Amino acid sequence: MIDLHELINNPSREALATWLAEEDQTKVEQLWEAAGRCKSETIGDSVWLRGIIELSNICERDCLYCGIRCSNRKVDRYDLTETQVLAAADFAWKERYGSLVIQSGERTGTDFVKRITKLVRTIKHQTNNTLGITLSCGAQPLETYREWYQAGAHRYLLRIESSNPNLFAKLHPSDGRHGYTTRLQALKNLKKIGYQTGTGVMIGLPGQSVFDLADDLLFFKELDIDMVGMGPYLEHKDTPLFALRDQLIPQDKRLILTLKMISLLRLIMKDINIAATTALQAIDPLGRERAVLAGANIIMPNMTVPQFRPNYQIYNNKPGINEDAELSKSKLERNLAEMGIKIAWDEWGDSLHHQKRT
Ligand code: 5AD
Repeated sequence: MIDLHELINNPSREALATWLAEEDQTKVEQLWEAAGRCKSETIGDSVWLRGIIELSNICERDCLYCGIRCSNRKVDRYDLTETQVLAAADFAWKERYGSLVIQSGERTGTDFVKRITKLVRTIKHQTNNTLGITLSCGAQPLETYREWYQAGAHRYLLRIESSNPNLFAKLHPSDGRHGYTTRLQALKNLKKIGYQTGTGVMIGLPGQSVFDLADDLLFFKELDIDMVGMGPYLEHKDTPLFALRDQLIPQDKRLILTLKMISLLRLIMKDINIAATTALQAIDPLGRERAVLAGANIIMPNMTVPQFRPNYQIYNNKPGINEDAELSKSKLERNLAEMGIKIAWDEWGDSLHHQKRT
C-alpha cells in the first residue's frame, strides 16, 4: 500500500510533482482510491449539483486559449433574456438542484452589473431564498462583488488559470487589462466580502510542468480557498494558443493528470468543494464520474437552452451542445447511478471549509 501520511501532513512541491509524474498504474489507482475515501470520510460520498446557466458569450477579454475571446469573429454573440434566465432558475429549483451558477463572458459597465444584481434578487425572491446562487462573471471591482453579494449571491468562481505569473502572462494579452495581480486581488476581495471563494487552473497547457501544477495546488492551500474547479486544457482552433498544439501531451494523458490533481488536492485540502468539470467529459463521457470517485464532490449540469449552446464553446467539442437541460440531467443521473454515486438533492452544498474558516 502507498503511504500518504507525509504528503498529507506536510505537502512539498517535490512530493506533489513526483505524484503528478507517476506512471505506475497501480499506484495512481491507489491514489485515486485514497482520495475518494478521504472525501467520503470528510464530507460524505454524495455529489452536489449546481445547474449552470451560460448567461452570455459576449466577452471583453481576449484570453489566448478561449473560444469566446472577443477577437474571435466567428462566434455568434448572444445574451439570454431575463425570462430565459428565470425559466432556467425555475428548472433548477423544481428539479431540486439546490443551487445554480450564473456564468458569463467578462463584462464591465453599469448595465451589466445592475442586470446581474436584479437577476440574483429576482431568483432569490422567486425561490423563497431556497436556491443557492454562485456567480462566475470574471474579475470585477470590489464594489461590484459587494453589490452582488448583498443581492444574495454567496459563492463566486474565478479561476487564476495558472498560479505561475510567467505562464499566466503567456496565456493572456499584455495590455494591462489581463494582469495576474488584478486577478489575484479579485480573489482576495471575494474572500474579504464573505463569498465562498472558488478558483482553479487549466491542466496540460503548453509549457506547463508538473512543478507548475504542484505550485497550483500549494497556491490553493496558501490562499485558503473554499472551492476549486479545474480541468484539462482543450484546444480551440480559432484561438492563438492553437498554434502551440504540437507541444501538448495527448488528451487522455491530460485527463489522467487532472484526476491526479483532484486527488492530491482532496488529500491536502480535505474539506473544500472540488468540481468535476465539463472539460473532463469532453475527453471521456464518464470523465466527471471518474473525477468524483477520485475526490471531487460537485457537478454542474448545463441548463443553457440548446439554441445557444453551440455559441458557448470555450474549447472545441464541448459536450452536450445538442441537449436541453432535461436531457443533460437525465444522462448525468444515469451515469452517476451506473457508477454507484449518490446525489444530494435540494441542498446548497456549502463548502465545509468555508464554514470552519468563518
Ligand atoms: N480549455 C479548457 N478550459 C478553458 N477555459 C477557457 N478556455 C478553455 C480551453 N480552451 C476555462 C477557463 C475559464 C473557464 C470558464 O473555462 O479556465 O476560467
